[in-house]
Amino acid sequence: MLSPINQSPIAGCMRWGAWGSKFDTAAYREIIAACFDNGITSFDHADIYGDYTTEADFGAAFKQFATKRSSFQIISKCGIQMLGANRPEHSVKSYNTSKEHIINSVERSLKNLHTDYLDLLLIHRPDPLMHPDEIAAAVTLLKDAGKINQFGVSNFLPHQVSMLQKSIEVEYNQIELSIIYTEPLFNGQLDQCIEKNMIPMAWSPLGGNIFNNSVDPKNKRVLDAAKMMTEKYNCSVSAIFLAWLYLHPAGILPVLGTSKIERIIEARDAKAIQLSREDWYKLLEASRGGQVD
Ligand SMILES: NC(=O)c1ccc[n+]([C@@H]2O[C@H](COP(=O)([O-])OP(=O)(O)OC[C@H]3O[C@@H](n4cnc5c(N)ncnc54)[C@H](OP(=O)(O)O)[C@@H]3O)[C@@H](O)[C@H]2O)c1
Repeated sequence: MLSPINQSPIAGCMRWGAWGSKFDTAAYREIIAACFDNGITSFDHADIYGDYTTEADFGAAFKQFATKRSSFQIISKCGIQMLGANRPEHSVKSYNTSKEHIINSVERSLKNLHTDYLDLLLIHRPDPLMHPDEIAAAVTLLKDAGKINQFGVSNFLPHQVSMLQKSIEVEYNQIELSIIYTEPLFNGQLDQCIEKNMIPMAWSPLGGNIFNNSVDPKNKRVLDAAKMMTEKYNCSVSAIFLAWLYLHPAGILPVLGTSKIERIIEARDAKAIQLSREDWYKLLEASRGGQVD
């Protein structure tokens, strides 16, 4: 299956607004344009980012790119209900994968993002109360109305994806994955992506910012191991971490967290780095704190 999501890394927008850089409309416009000029055309959102404000802040800038809409890919997620001033009607943090909630959330995201459709909708977390037929009904309706093009999940374990696939095709699983968080190598998530032709996206591909916590023993081991390789591969430490993801045969798409265009371009270029298998395992060993069996 070919992905309409650009195979370059995806620009994650979680830290661009209230939860991070607090971009104003001009700053959003600048980074969207710079991404576009450098071949980064996929943007990752969720209804909840910035306490439900980031989609609208991004959308205020994105509407100025309306004539180029088909050259961009917009991803959003729904299913988490957060507490806070922007959702006073919520009395408990919870998940909601009801048909009504999925449809309403997508409608709201489209309005906020100033677009007629999402290229990809993801269910943000597995909901203990989810039923595959109900999710399938919402997704089918949204697809038939031209409001979403593709469908996937996020943070789902293989058995949860399999349950959903009883009723609907699942094309992506966006999971936490990095040299710091290697669980998906061993818990079946990546195996399932290969088996089912699903595309894995890695969130927090740099471990959610290990650079600011290098006293942590695991972070330090991994940073030291990567530093040893920067001369050999003529690149930065973060490019080594991304090259580590790119070597995996599942075809991982990193969802970048940076709000700096130069780091986004560097991440794009990391795709050309061919880590050796031995260097890949040296990094894994540093992360695990010991050899594989
Ligand atoms: N599906 C989910 O459940 C889920 C959960 C979390 C996140 N996400 C998605 O994944 C995206 C990425 O997550 P993340 O932000 O945790 O990813 P990340 O790329 O692992 O971490 C980004 C952080 O690292 C910093 N950073 C990057 N390169 C650096 C360097 N060379 N030196 C120092 N600091 C550096 C960035 O700061 P600068 O801005 O200064 O570069 C930023 O604060 C989010 O935007 C969101 O779209 C999805």
